[in-house]
Amino acid sequence: MSPSSPVPQVEGTDRGRTKPRAPKAAFVVIANRLPVDRVQNADGSTDWRTSPGGLVAALEPVMRRNGGAWIGWHGAADEPLDPFEDDGLQLVPVPLSSDEVEEYYEGFSNGTLWPLYHDVVAHPEFHREWWDSYVRVNQRFADRAAEVAEDGAVVWIQDYQLQLVPQMLRESRPDLRIGFFLHIPFPPTELFQQLPWRKQILEGLLGADLVGFQLPGAAQNFVRLVRQRVRHKTHRETVYLPDGRAVIAKAYPISIDASGLEALARQPESQRRADEIRESLGNPEYLLLGIDRLDYTKGLRQRLRAFGELIAEGTLDIEQAVFIQVATPSRERVGQYRLLRDDIDRLVGRINGDVGRIGNPPITYLHSSYPRSEMAALYRAADVMVVTPLRDGMNLVAKEYVACRYHNDGALVLSEFAGAAAELRQAYQVNPYDINGMKAALMDAMCDTQAEKTRRMKAMRRQVMDNDIEHWASTFLEDLANARQPHGKRTRPLL
Ligand code: F6P
Repeated sequence: MSPSSPVPQVEGTDRGRTKPRAPKAAFVVIANRLPVDRVQNADGSTDWRTSPGGLVAALEPVMRRNGGAWIGWHGAADEPLDPFEDDGLQLVPVPLSSDEVEEYYEGFSNGTLWPLYHDVVAHPEFHREWWDSYVRVNQRFADRAAEVAEDGAVVWIQDYQLQLVPQMLRESRPDLRIGFFLHIPFPPTELFQQLPWRKQILEGLLGADLVGFQLPGAAQNFVRLVRQRVRHKTHRETVYLPDGRAVIAKAYPISIDASGLEALARQPESQRRADEIRESLGNPEYLLLGIDRLDYTKGLRQRLRAFGELIAEGTLDIEQAVFIQVATPSRERVGQYRLLRDDIDRLVGRINGDVGRIGNPPITYLHSSYPRSEMAALYRAADVMVVTPLRDGMNLVAKEYVACRYHNDGALVLSEFAGAAAELRQAYQVNPYDINGMKAALMDAMCDTQAEKTRRMKAMRRQVMDNDIEHWASTFLEDLANARQPHGKRTRPLL
């Protein structure tokens, strides 16, 4: 995709112009966000740049071959935009008002569903007006897709913000082949039952032909709930609907553009920058690294406490080990995220204040986001990657670190509550609630022999390089194409 493209028109600002019609597409992706970020040029003008996410990289070839369209929100409130093209890809913006950003996005998506689906590590709030907004916005996405999809098109809906779209879309467009993928965990039945709108969400998802999850356990939770709450017949991964349709619920663990990232990490510039990072920290024996969105599910507090205690009690010397924690700003207007930011600021300040020396703060804390090249350099620089979520659908940072360690060195400390733990079995796995256990795992990850670290990394690299994002997307789309056809319905195969 080209790095930038012309700015689309804001609807209604160009009076003489005919409003561009949304394109028609044989393959439609629907996600809460468009895969582009708005960037400001030096002369004050703005452009769109493809965001670095793996999802768009994986789907780009299929979109190109099929004249695909991507439907999503562009991230600003009260700003309707016309559909626009980015280097041959059709982007179809869905507008949100500031009330909808507050109620649908910050509210129901990230104040209700996010904590509920992540094991209630924060308290989910249930508000009827948030739910109403979620329904309204889901309907808008579904309506947009119904306009854009060609007869018999394949539509792939992404994630927890849009769980009602499959059913809404099927009602208006029964000719479509509809897939849904949930990027975050699907909770155990006991937690899901708390949701006042549990039946509507299950029925919403059942509008799809194929519902994908990160792990088999999540698919099983879903099928069990459908049996209990919607009373449909189920057998293993299949739900049988009274109208004759069958819906498959199955696991497709998502991955990364592993070879693309490895190629970036192999560039001499990445190694030069990695050396520079280590140098600026006084070339410690062990550089530990955490990279996360600043989210309460990520277990930042637990890992920093474990590291702080190792220094405070003298197990680790301050000259010997340094921790870099990158925390990317996220959902900053949501109350729980504000509290977390203050909490982590205080904790880092306390640890550095208690055990730091002049020129030697044990933790370097960066509340910022970085380009991919800097991330690759950080992964190259780190001896130990510390990934300790309390609950995580997958965790791609763990896979990214592995992809960058092409010398089979380095060590990964990984929470057993990250989806990635099912595949990266040779990581130093930890229970992030067990601070002593985490301290022991950090020490092992630092002090084990090189041979042991190589053995583990080799196995993890094989897993990540063989199961990349391309494999994920093609497996899902193949299964979607092969999902049982309801009688008499035509769908167009993807190219
Ligand atoms: O992990 C779920 C997810 O929605 C990702 O798809 C996304 O990159 C991340 O969380 C941040 O989401 P938001 O759109 O809320 O900034």
